[in-house]
Amino acid sequence: MTPEKRVVVGISGASGAALALETLRILKNLRIARHVTVTPGAEVTIRHELGAAARAEIRALATQDLPPSNLAAPIASGSFKVEAMIVVPCSMRSLAAIAYGTGEGLLARAADVTLKERRPLVLVAREAPLHEGHLEAMLKVTRMGAIVSPPVPPFYSGLADLDDMNRQIAARSLATAGLDPEGYLRRWTGSRDS
Ligand SMILES: Cc1cc2nc3c(=O)[nH]c(=O)nc-3n(C[C@H](O)[C@H](O)[C@H](O)COP(=O)(O)O)c2cc1C
Repeated sequence: MTPEKRVVVGISGASGAALALETLRILKNLRIARHVTVTPGAEVTIRHELGAAARAEIRALATQDLPPSNLAAPIASGSFKVEAMIVVPCSMRSLAAIAYGTGEGLLARAADVTLKERRPLVLVAREAPLHEGHLEAMLKVTRMGAIVSPPVPPFYSGLADLDDMNRQIAARSLATAGLDPEGYLRRWTGSRDS
């Protein structure tokens, strides 16, 4: 029997909670297990940007919805095998915690484990504009093996609406983490004009 594929999804308190929902929906449709942890900051942004029902949907979409204080959760250990971890959206606070390996809170601990095990870690880092500290933290995590992939819309891909845009950004982050988002990602195949 093929072992179950698992992905860790960390949701932090940057703007873009809808991206987390799209990521979880795609992973569920791909039949990849979803080990989710939501920071206290994200509890605020999810409620503010999407409403209370969205938090319930995240819980329902998660294979496991792990409290940020549960440092004994499976994803806090490298012996729990996962394909990759995605932090979507990734706040500057969580980025800094990952850059400096603080391991404070389950999201930062799971990201630290992902890096030490040399597994793909994609940070959908969202803030604008960026100061030197943000950029330094991005450089630091990149040197440690993470991939910083800001939620930049693929304007060239004929986006139909905001939902389509969120889906394309989520699918791209999954592809960056080495997963195949099958029919979800519209790939560039060249322009007919040139
Ligand atoms: C509506 C709202 C939007 C926010 N957007 C961002 C953002 O885009 N990027 C960011 O770094 N922080 C943002 N913040 C601030 C973070 O939520 C805050 O720094 C929090 O402490 C992050 O902690 P966490 O990484 O543990 O979730 C936002 C806060 C609120 C309430």
